[in-house]
Amino acid sequence: MSGNPWAQWLDRYDTVPYQLSRKQGWDAFVNAGSRPRFEVLTRAEMRALNADVLADYNEARCVWNANPATIKTQQLARAFDVLEQVMASNRRDGDKLRGAAVIDAEPGLGKTTIATRFAREVHRREYRRHSPETPDGSQRLPVAFVPLNAGVTLKGLNQQLLEFYGHPGASRSTRTQLTSLAMDCVTTCETKLIIIDDLHFVDFRHRNGLEVSNHLKGLANVLPATFLFVGVNLEAKRFFDEGLLGEAAVYAQTSRRTTRCPVAPFSFGDGHSARAWTDLLVTLERHLILADAGPGMLTSQARELHRRTQGRIASLMNLIDRAAFLAITTGVEAITPAVITAALTDNAAQRLAELPA
Ligand SMILES: Nc1ncnc2c1ncn2[C@@H]1O[C@H](COP(=O)(O)OP(=O)(O)O)[C@@H](O)[C@H]1O
Ligand SMILES: [Mg+2]
Repeated sequence: MSGNPWAQWLDRYDTVPYQLSRKQGWDAFVNAGSRPRFEVLTRAEMRALNADVLADYNEARCVWNANPATIKTQQLARAFDVLEQVMASNRRDGDKLRGAAVIDAEPGLGKTTIATRFAREVHRREYRRHSPETPDGSQRLPVAFVPLNAGVTLKGLNQQLLEFYGHPGASRSTRTQLTSLAMDCVTTCETKLIIIDDLHFVDFRHRNGLEVSNHLKGLANVLPATFLFVGVNLEAKRFFDEGLLGEAAVYAQTSRRTTRCPVAPFSFGDGHSARAWTDLLVTLERHLILADAGPGMLTSQARELHRRTQGRIASLMNLIDRAAFLAITTGVEAITPAVITAALTDNAAQRLAELPA
């Protein structure tokens, strides 16, 4: 590369603040190309750069290092298989009930990543087969992504769904109007998959929450789309048995209509499970742009990395991000045990790592 290619790289590929909860942001996410990799400079090559250019090179490396492409972990591959099966019912005619899927797992295991990446494939697939406009001239939106907020109400849920479609009625309609507008949007844009993320913000045992969950089930009954519910601890929160207790829960409909898709942390025990963890580390090792990075840089620390992160992909990604940043700013240029020790994990991972083994 000649001149200052890293400043140019940054102009094009700097961090993108996608707003997935709006159709424009979702569209940008679906259509974004991947960042091109650039060459790793040796220490001597880095010394030859002037301070400004070196700063750009380092900044570009930090952006690159922090954004590995989605890794096809076992968890992700398994979840995709389940979701594909559930989506198969989508081919049912509109008068028959469709199934729903639920990704129910602890925080930081890659639930949102699985849901959004799967949905991105669904979106692209629909676009390969159909034109970007539906027969009545609306924009085709195969996927709607609705991340919930704490204390979400029934009205808020409908508003958020409408806001995804950029519907002007979102802020000023009554509850009943909102529901029918939401149905209009889903139908005219030929939406096939609706993701409701962070569903744990709804308390199904509380009246408001029960109302939201009943409404979601109602929508799932009338809309010609598959629902993908994503959240933490939904089973304990009684999402599946609609908050009912005892025998009544057996008759709950949700349980029958939804397929669960579990996501587990990586384990580090016998040969097979340790292998998946090591494979993940190999992928990351190859990704990082550091002058002295090489094979074994992370895999030789597999046990310690597992201890620090409890095999949770979000904690691992944070730790590696920060370690790579430290490796650059301190000039170590590799992720050594000392760098790993200095790098911070999130609060939960930190606390668990401090417990006696
Ligand atoms: N398959 C994956 N490949 C690469 N990074 C991932 C993957 N899954 C999760 N991550 C990382 O972990 C972080 C948290 O994942 P996320 O999907 O938000 O978890 P959850 O929704 O379960 O809390 C993501 O921001 C990303 O950095
Ligand atoms: Mg999430």
